[in-house]
Amino acid sequence: MKPQVKPSNPNFSSGPCSKRPVYNVNQLNIDTLGRSHRSAIGKEVLAKVCQDTASILGLPEGYKVGVVPGSDTGAVEMALWSLLGERGVDVLAWESFGKGWVTDIVKQLKIENTRTFEADYGQLPDFNQVDFNNDVVFTWNGTTSGVKVANGDWIDDNRAGLTICDATSAVFAMELPWEKLDVVTFSWQKALGGEGAHGMLILSPRAIQRLESYTPSWPMPKIFRLTKAGKLIEGIFKGATINTPSMLCVADYLDALNWINEIGGVSGAIKKSEANLAVVEKFVAENDWINFLATKTETISNTSICLTLKADASQVKEIVKLLNNEGVAFDIGAYRDAPAGIRIWGGATVEASDLEALMPWMTWAYNQIVNK
Ligand SMILES: Cc1ncc(COP(=O)(O)O)c(C=O)c1O
Repeated sequence: MKPQVKPSNPNFSSGPCSKRPVYNVNQLNIDTLGRSHRSAIGKEVLAKVCQDTASILGLPEGYKVGVVPGSDTGAVEMALWSLLGERGVDVLAWESFGKGWVTDIVKQLKIENTRTFEADYGQLPDFNQVDFNNDVVFTWNGTTSGVKVANGDWIDDNRAGLTICDATSAVFAMELPWEKLDVVTFSWQKALGGEGAHGMLILSPRAIQRLESYTPSWPMPKIFRLTKAGKLIEGIFKGATINTPSMLCVADYLDALNWINEIGGVSGAIKKSEANLAVVEKFVAENDWINFLATKTETISNTSICLTLKADASQVKEIVKLLNNEGVAFDIGAYRDAPAGIRIWGGATVEASDLEALMPWMTWAYNQIVNK
């Protein structure tokens, strides 16, 4: 039977992710539009972005937050290019984006003494093999496999190297052990439902110390430069961005941060996301034709929820298309490099009621295509 109720918001994309509930672009504070980002008002708003991010995330004393170009990719590559090469590197990857950082380190930067630990889609590499005398590069949540790091217990508190973590689909959705992370990056377009374009770069005091004591041997484009004459460019972390940001995206980000406060801060956002995952978990438990791509329960992502179906790749495509055409779920096909399947965003901008409405449609679409 075709379900009667459709999700009121069919946007389940894993990036850009759904806007927050009752988002209204007309409610953005656009006083900065048409003004210089270096004007008093421009600088004030950009400084607020850095300060509010640090306070809402509860960053430890001495951590700095900057707005950088190039979205999450820009923030990660800036960190890799600026920090690596001082010592060996251990890089962990278990899906497409993590593998991209392996390519950067091994094929572009060509860092000697790099050890690569990779795992297939659905799994995690063996964290016990990591040597914290090296710099350690990893992704907190594998957006394309739906496999997350369950916790930071494996990270050495007394490490000599730096931990560099791409946490773009985890920040504002998962508990992060900040003291164990020296570099964290994210973009606005994921858990906050913000816009693409800018990345956030969070540095620990140890990362800053590295920046001020080590100069890589390779040339550094202006867009990546975090230091000048051996000193951190403090301005970047107070709102004096390297180049011109989109003040419209900035207004949108501040609106999203305000909403995070309204729903109870990061812990409220995490609870909402976990409740979203619970809806899908219940559905998976009740149906034997669908399963999580993640093989271990504690690693199932509560943001990019990746599912495998008892169906071939072309049937999965048809299911995704059918749900799209019915207007009940947009952009839920697995990432292009990942195994065929469905990926549903479960971050806090998505409502559990919409996921509940979607589940019967998944059964209906599966029956239409596979059991026809
Ligand atoms: C884990 C991870 N890293 C990096 C990126 C790239 O992010 P952006 O497009 O914001 O640069 C994504 C995007 O989905 C991602 O999921």
